[in-house]
This record gives sequence, C-alpha cells and structure tokens, in this order.
Amino acid sequence: MIRLEKVSFSYDKQEIFRDLSLHVEKNEKVGIVGESGCGKSTLLKLIAGLYLPSEGKICVDGETDPARISRKVSVVMQAPMLLPMTIMENITMGHEYPAERIDRVCEEAQLSKWIGTLSEGINTYLGDRSDELSGGQAQRIAIARAMCKDAQIILLDEPTSALDAENTAAVLEALRRYTVDKTVVHVTHRPEHLKGYDRILKMEDLIGK
Ligand SMILES: Nc1ncnc2c1ncn2[C@@H]1O[C@H](COP(=O)(O)OP(=O)(O)OP(=O)(O)O)[C@@H](O)[C@H]1O
Ligand SMILES: [Mg+2]
Repeated sequence: MIRLEKVSFSYDKQEIFRDLSLHVEKNEKVGIVGESGCGKSTLLKLIAGLYLPSEGKICVDGETDPARISRKVSVVMQAPMLLPMTIMENITMGHEYPAERIDRVCEEAQLSKWIGTLSEGINTYLGDRSDELSGGQAQRIAIARAMCKDAQIILLDEPTSALDAENTAAVLEALRRYTVDKTVVHVTHRPEHLKGYDRILKMEDLIGK
C-alpha cells in the first residue's frame, strides 16, 4: 500500500511538483507516464524513502519513516548504481541469500548467459571496470538485485530502457511473473510495456488534486 497526500518537492529552490497525491493498493500494478523532466524519477525516489518531501505525507505499508520504508521497497532506478564489488555482491547487497535464489534471479534477469562467459562467473569483480559494462548488463544486474531483495513493493523506472527487444520481452515477462503478488509502480515512456496493468496514470493528473 502506497499513500502520498499533497506531497510537494523541490531540489534546492526549484519546485518539481506541488500537491501530488497518489494511492496504490496492495498488489495493484500502476503505470506512470508523463513528459521528460516532469518528475517521475523524483516521485519514485520519494516513495522509496530516498528523498524527503518538503510538504505532505508519505506512507508505505504503514511506515512513514524513510529508513523503514526503504527496507520494504525494491527499486530499479533509471540509471543503475553499481558498486565496486563482485556481480554477486552487487546483487545481494550484503545480505545472505540461498544460492538457488541468486541463480533464479540471474536467470530471470537474463544475466546467466553473460555470466557464464566470464572466467570468474558471478564472482567477477566490477571495481574500476564497472564502466566497461554495457548499459544493458548494468540494468540487468539492477533488476536481479531488486528481485533478490524480494520486497512486497517494487518500483521500476524505465527498467528495460537499455535492453534489446529480445531481452526486453524476456525481462518484462519475468517481472510480470515475479510481481503477481506484489505492488508495482512502473514509470515508462513506453505504455506498451504496461499491458495488463490495473491503472495507467499521467503524472499531470496526480498533481494539484
Ligand atoms: N538531483 C537533482 N538536482 C537538481 N535537479 C534535479 C535533480 N534530479 C532531477 N532534477 C530536475 O528535476 C526535474 C524532474 O526530474 P526527473 O528525473 O524526476 O524527471 P523524469 O520525469 O523522471 O524525466 P525522464 O522522463 O527524462 O526520466 C527535472 O527538471 C530535472 O532537471
Ligand atoms: Mg526519469
């Protein structure tokens, strides 16, 4: 369950939106569309507890404290953040998970074939070489990371923007299966990626309500 009530947000002095309200029920799948720069990624970061609103209330699964909220939410950011660690550590982010779960999320995120070509496999270090990864490889690691965390609420920000058509179809299908019993907010410029979603909302319609 996600509830934003009359939320306003500014970066320094630049106000991005005022009085934005959004209610998403448990297990609901909601798409959000809107022109570039209107604040969609900012909205997801607010829901994820990464930013604080300048006004208004945010409640996610009964929590209002950003640190507690961020534990309950999995996010695939528009620009994936990889850390100087191995592929495995970038997926598990310091948590212990059963090997089968890690294998499964690599399979679902279409990473297994590529990992199989690396001499050190999933233990390949992505230190200074993280910028040698393709955008699509980085994005698929971020998707595997979000699936591995297995939070009830999944926030997706253009999660397949760097993938080719074949990988896009496979990852969207995997996300569809994976989120059957989850709450999803998915931001995209590609409404065809939101097939089967319960609601598709325009960012402008959330503001000033
Ligand atoms: N860290 C930041 N500091 C200052 N301004 C920012 C920051 N991040 C984003 N902005 C500004 O906030 C506005 C909204 O950005 P945001 O990334 O949320 O848009 P968006 O709707 O996700 O766009 P796109 O569809 O291109 O991804 C833009 O004008 C952007 O320039
Ligand atoms: Mg964005």
